[in-house]
Amino acid sequence: MIQRSSDSGLFKHQGLNIMTEALHKKYEIGVDSVTAVDGASIEIRPSMTAALVGVSGCGKSTLLNLLGGIDRPDKGSITVGGVDITRLSERDLEEYRLNKIGFVFQMFNLLPALTAVENVKLPMTMAGKLEKGERHCRALNLLQLVGVEKRAHKRPDELSGGEQQRVAIAVALANDPGIILADEPTANLDQANLRKILALLIGLASECKKTILIATHDPRVSSETEIVIKMAEGRISDVLKAENHIRKLVSLGE
Ligand SMILES: Nc1ncnc2c1ncn2[C@@H]1O[C@H](COP(=O)(O)OP(=O)(O)OP(=O)(O)O)[C@@H](O)[C@H]1O
Ligand SMILES: [Mg+2]
Repeated sequence: MIQRSSDSGLFKHQGLNIMTEALHKKYEIGVDSVTAVDGASIEIRPSMTAALVGVSGCGKSTLLNLLGGIDRPDKGSITVGGVDITRLSERDLEEYRLNKIGFVFQMFNLLPALTAVENVKLPMTMAGKLEKGERHCRALNLLQLVGVEKRAHKRPDELSGGEQQRVAIAVALANDPGIILADEPTANLDQANLRKILALLIGLASECKKTILIATHDPRVSSETEIVIKMAEGRISDVLKAENHIRKLVSLGE
């Protein structure tokens, strides 16, 4: 599948190295505070697929948000392709989010008033790179890649959860980002579509040298990535090869 997409030139940009050092993020809610990320240091290289796992509330989405420039850490550095993004201005950070990062949101984040194809075209329009016709053509190609081309002219409320999830993946790929940060991208998919999306993400790493990090609760996903990064209470508790991660799950009876 990815062969077809790379043949047609949909993906050209290679990944960047991601390195974090001692990242901290605390949320203050009134007098309470939650340390969602507590000294996380990780490295993910181009061509690599990494799964980010751990119990609900351990900080996976928060870490992805920090890496994606959606939120800023309180302490620590995030070096992406040699640049510490924690030091970027708001404007440069916006440019980073738009062009370097493909973010698949846990809650999809599709604009309800726009159709599927319009949602996919939006980041391209914002980046201002392609001509109008090219944007439309690329958006349809991306929807085809994730198997929802027949729903191209439907709005999100006319789509199933799994269809919305796949449109959200097409949106993330719109500007051909080198880095894909996907927050539970398969949570609403049936087995066949899960396999298809996983093959797409793995192909983007192996064939297009992109950097892929996937937060997931699904061992079918974490068994296929190259490494598994385990989080517990905001910390990185383990980094394992996928096969060792699965062996541990089996021995724990999970
Ligand atoms: N905007 C926020 N304001 C306050 N607390 C937050 C906020 N976002 C997350 N948290 C808290 O930070 C902690 C980490 O949340 P996070 O969403 O990163 O977990 P997660 O590992 O992605 O969980 P899940 O598997 O359920 O998606 C949780 O205790 C959560 O309640
Ligand atoms: Mg989450």
